[in-house]
Amino acid sequence: MSVVALVPAAGRGERLGESVPKALVPVRGVPLLVHAVRGLLSARGRGSTGCVWRVVVAAPVSDVDTARNALAAAGLPALVVAGGSSRTESVRLALDAAGDATIVLVHDAARAFTPPEIIYNVVSAVTAGAPAVIPVLPVADTVKRVDASGMVVGTPDRSELRVVQTPQGFAADVLRRAYATYPDDSTTDDAGLVERLGVPITTIPGHPFAMKITTSFDLALAETMFPG
Ligand code: C5P
Repeated sequence: MSVVALVPAAGRGERLGESVPKALVPVRGVPLLVHAVRGLLSARGRGSTGCVWRVVVAAPVSDVDTARNALAAAGLPALVVAGGSSRTESVRLALDAAGDATIVLVHDAARAFTPPEIIYNVVSAVTAGAPAVIPVLPVADTVKRVDASGMVVGTPDRSELRVVQTPQGFAADVLRRAYATYPDDSTTDDAGLVERLGVPITTIPGHPFAMKITTSFDLALAETMFPG
């Protein structure tokens, strides 16, 4: 099994309000992208070698060299390619560079502090035969459906809802088929594309530390919670 992790990291991250692309924003002096790739490369089972063989990063076109240099300075081997104008395009470009992968993970750079054991658990579940695996958490808040004017139109049963994290893991041929079948989709949910092919999606428990760093609040939280 050849396990390749794709890291879409080409977003501008405008909701963060920083002057550099989100993946290059530092937490404790280290760019989010470096934290994310370090987590991927340190994922392993007890006593075994790393479970992620290679990492392909889709970086902002303007910052390919910066991303490459940051990873090299941290001693992290990764192939850095130029990303696209949408997340879908960035994942597709990284997938094209994934070579002979048999298992592909897609992991948002913004989930930079995902515990390595979650990454290992995703790889293990795909290795054991699941074609698609996603880490999820239960929903803590009550959720409402609203119409365009903000009026409540429904209350989904919270016990059936889950929030989805990354890495999402796939048999490589399944993810390739999904991207070939829906080339113009603007999803940020790779498992959603795979689901539309009729492929079953397995869930495993996620982790609060796999939170997506989206706002300045998340960044402040990360500064206090996570190691540099
Ligand atoms: O914007 P959002 O946080 O939902 O993006 C999710 C992930 O997709 C981020 O890691 C971001 O860098 C990545 N992305 C990308 N290429 C884009 C837009 C987003 O790689 N054009």
